[in-house]
Amino acid sequence: MKKALIIFCSPHRQGNTASLVEVFKKHFDGGITQIDLFPHLSKGISPCIDCKGCKNKVGCVLSDDFAKIISDDYDVLVIASPIYMSNMPPPFWNIISRFNFTFSNRIYLKQSKTFKEKEGVLILTGGGSECKKLMGKTNEDEAIKQANYVFAKLNARPNHIYLSLQTDTIPASQDEEIKEKIKEGAIELSH
Ligand SMILES: Cc1cc2nc3c(=O)[nH]c(=O)nc-3n(C[C@H](O)[C@H](O)[C@H](O)COP(=O)(O)O)c2cc1C
Repeated sequence: MKKALIIFCSPHRQGNTASLVEVFKKHFDGGITQIDLFPHLSKGISPCIDCKGCKNKVGCVLSDDFAKIISDDYDVLVIASPIYMSNMPPPFWNIISRFNFTFSNRIYLKQSKTFKEKEGVLILTGGGSECKKLMGKTNEDEAIKQANYVFAKLNARPNHIYLSLQTDTIPASQDEEIKEKIKEGAIELSH
């Protein structure tokens, strides 16, 4: 049975991003674990506090859901998020900073972490902001790069990217085209 880990970076349990995540969950035939990043939804994942623990110990010494991400106990990594100011929202940056442990482990402990190959799924929603108007087509570029950074760190192939970027006029729950694509992707990734 395949296992998926979902990193959920929307503050809304029933918002645009959540409606697309539901489509994935409905059609993915396997085990699913979800991590909620916004602090009002769960404890989330704190940023790197440069405690230097990873200079002396393999891995990251902070204790939170980041451990699930680096457990490497899943086949599909789903990153699902709204776009904020043409970037990923702040809680996602906490994850990016936490990968500093790989650097310290390598330099100070001569330990390199190798993650197994896996599939990466990116679900991004956006719309209704000045940024979108200001940035035009590049509205989503940085957010995709930031998600790709995490995929690259975890050895996930970013071959499934789903964008619903007009949620100001078409709620993601009514974006039938992208819902169909997510359904097809989830079925494909179940095997
Ligand atoms: C603080 C903030 C910043 C936003 N910045 C952007 C943006 O730069 N580009 C964009 O397309 N949408 C932007 N949006 C709109 C959200 O990405 C969009 O409404 C999204 O679908 C919300 O998803 P949710 O319902 O899962 O929260 C922003 C929304 C907020 C609250």
